[in-house]
Amino acid sequence: MNNSKQTNPSVTLHEASSQYQSNTHKIKWLAKTIVTLTVSLFLFSCGSKQVENNEEEVFVSELLGKMTLEEKIGQLHQITSQWNMTGPAPEYAQGHEERLKSGLVGSMLNVIGAEATLNAQKLVVENSRLGIPLIFGYDVIHGYRTMFPVPLGEAASWDPEVVKLSASIAALESAAAGLHWTFAPMMDVGRDARWGRVMEGAGEDPYLASILSAARVRGFQGENLADQKTIAACAKHFAGYAFAESGKDYNNVDISNATLHNVILPPFKASTAAGAATYMNSFNTIQGLPASANEYIQRQLLKGDWGFDGFVVSDWNSIGEMVAHGAARDLKEAANMAINAGSDMDMEGNAYTNFLAELVEEGKVDIKIIDDAVKRVLTVKYRLGLFEDPYKYSNKEWEKNTLYSLGNKSAARKVARESIVLLKNEENKLPISKSIKSIAVVGPLADDKDAPLGNWRADAVANSAVSVLEGIKARAGKDVTINYAKGCDLVTSERNFAGEIKFNTTDRTGFAAAVAAAKKSEIVLLAIGEDCFQSGEGRSQADIRLKGLQMELFDAIYAVNPNIVIVLMNGRPVAIPELDAKAPAILETWFLGSEAGHAIADVVFGDHNPSGKLPMTFPRSNGQIPIYYNAMNTGRPGPKNEVFWSHYTDQSNAPLYPFGYGLSYTDFKYDNLAVDSSDPSAIQVSVTLQNTGAVTGTEVAQLYIRDQFASLVRPIKELKGFQKVTLKSGESKDLTFTLTEKELGFYDNEGSYKVEDGMFDVMVGTNSTDLLTETFLLTAEAVQ
Ligand code: NOJ
Repeated sequence: MNNSKQTNPSVTLHEASSQYQSNTHKIKWLAKTIVTLTVSLFLFSCGSKQVENNEEEVFVSELLGKMTLEEKIGQLHQITSQWNMTGPAPEYAQGHEERLKSGLVGSMLNVIGAEATLNAQKLVVENSRLGIPLIFGYDVIHGYRTMFPVPLGEAASWDPEVVKLSASIAALESAAAGLHWTFAPMMDVGRDARWGRVMEGAGEDPYLASILSAARVRGFQGENLADQKTIAACAKHFAGYAFAESGKDYNNVDISNATLHNVILPPFKASTAAGAATYMNSFNTIQGLPASANEYIQRQLLKGDWGFDGFVVSDWNSIGEMVAHGAARDLKEAANMAINAGSDMDMEGNAYTNFLAELVEEGKVDIKIIDDAVKRVLTVKYRLGLFEDPYKYSNKEWEKNTLYSLGNKSAARKVARESIVLLKNEENKLPISKSIKSIAVVGPLADDKDAPLGNWRADAVANSAVSVLEGIKARAGKDVTINYAKGCDLVTSERNFAGEIKFNTTDRTGFAAAVAAAKKSEIVLLAIGEDCFQSGEGRSQADIRLKGLQMELFDAIYAVNPNIVIVLMNGRPVAIPELDAKAPAILETWFLGSEAGHAIADVVFGDHNPSGKLPMTFPRSNGQIPIYYNAMNTGRPGPKNEVFWSHYTDQSNAPLYPFGYGLSYTDFKYDNLAVDSSDPSAIQVSVTLQNTGAVTGTEVAQLYIRDQFASLVRPIKELKGFQKVTLKSGESKDLTFTLTEKELGFYDNEGSYKVEDGMFDVMVGTNSTDLLTETFLLTAEAVQ
């Protein structure tokens, strides 16, 4: 990743702060005085929240009133860190340094660490006319220094509290490292496992993604943005990015309005309601227009109907890329289209800084549009408390005490455990027997201390994760012999964020040792899957089967010891029908973060009973993609004895593992599904859940509906509720779900929400396939 540690020991925080206090905040000072006077007029008639808002508004307007056009455009200009902030800018970056000093930059990305952020902030605050602080943004996707599971993995917890905890610690560490703003959560609902960025999202379902994305926003932002332990969130990518044709990153997106409103937008809407401070738009076209130029979604929906009052940042040069898309003649036209469409800040595109002034002078861009965008940026800075103290997040001592603390690591272990999904467990292979004496820990990822950190790893230290081998050794104790062998390398290339990966397809020299280790052990833990940079941005794959020699290694080991537990690491669904057919046990562990090995050992030894459920369907083959549970029925759902129905002639329609799937070390039974629709505005669905197995376990009970017929065809199933319940052996519980118009309606192609009367199926169960079903009639009067 493109950030390096940047320090300047010659300036202390205290010095910087006091210089700032004494001479750079004339504007704030003046504005405050006016604010206080104005505000006092309202004090008797307004509540305190309103007073706060008013104070904010007056402050921002006053400041805006002092700004030149150039300074305003500067606030809409975001640049990446290009040089180490410890000394003068090198020649290539001197233009940037000058622009910072002149207050012509509003934000920087990729400047991290208390000292570096302090120094960059000083450049701006101490030298520019108005001293408007920078807002520092960074991709804090699943942790800052302490890594949590990749977001797709965390989504497998189906637990908003778990997800919130992870985001709150990521925010705490980021804030302590001088950051104000994360480019997360990504809430693109993704149905295509070939698209590498599914790793950053919450999976294929809009309902689950809405709940988890809102929880992430709350985790990052806490109750109050000005609280030093929180940072601003960024709902991205607005919108449709995950629907790239053929799962190829940056590709064209062509979807119906109904899909836009019912599938793509719900998590964004939920995140706005949860208070997401900022948005990022996306690289793709949507319905023929690049998202950065989409006035309908940015202005009409987001800033209009949804009442969003933060700002929208472009994705990296997404405004400039409008030229390559063929949507704009040149960069100037791209700038014109983007600002008018509601893209407020230009990330690394230079479109605004180069052309907005000209466009205003030519009357193509109304100054009111610029003012609105600038106000939005200043408002977020105000809410973060940056006008109170622009250096408040940059505190070395705090940074030192906060990053990678024991408490943060223990939270990471908890979240990691909750994210593990048990995909197969024939003859209760897991948890492994207490009397076991020998375990083979094998595979290219078995002693890999780096892979579990995943992609988008912010400031994680390379090779800092607890490997599977370390975790198993630590838990197994002295009486168990651990036979480790790597077997083979997965990749032959250097691991890094930007480079292509080369897989090992020839070197089998480690096979013999792995086979020997397996032969002399009672059970084999085989850690295989994806390289940690195999998923993420620019990491689309045409083939999602396991790469390199991994399946060959499996076969070689299976031939001598079929008692194999597969420990899968991956950032997307993988196609593993052969493993499913042969291996008795499979654990999906994603990229679990810093504490991966411990969390895996917790599950392998039964200290934690797994309860994760898949947030995305696992296909049998590449050819089934896109495959997702909430599909339409088609006119020919089949099956039939002849070929004329919607199917493949060479493969089942069923996925390998359906959405919502995941096993436990105990068994659960669903019974007595009943629907009470006597109050059509709050339909009650009840079911009895019983733990029929031998140990305590946690189940995610899932509720789906199907609107049998409607003015627009509805999916065969739609998740509309879930509850995570822990039950002791033998214990049972009656669960109740309530369905209101919020769950029963849908958006039409005009974007209007409707609830239509008629027959509905309601289904409850352990995953999207194994369900009890009841039916009810939603009466016409209920929907009026
Ligand atoms: C491009 C990615 O699409 C976006 O998600 C990320 O936040 C920016 N680069 C900044 O790194």
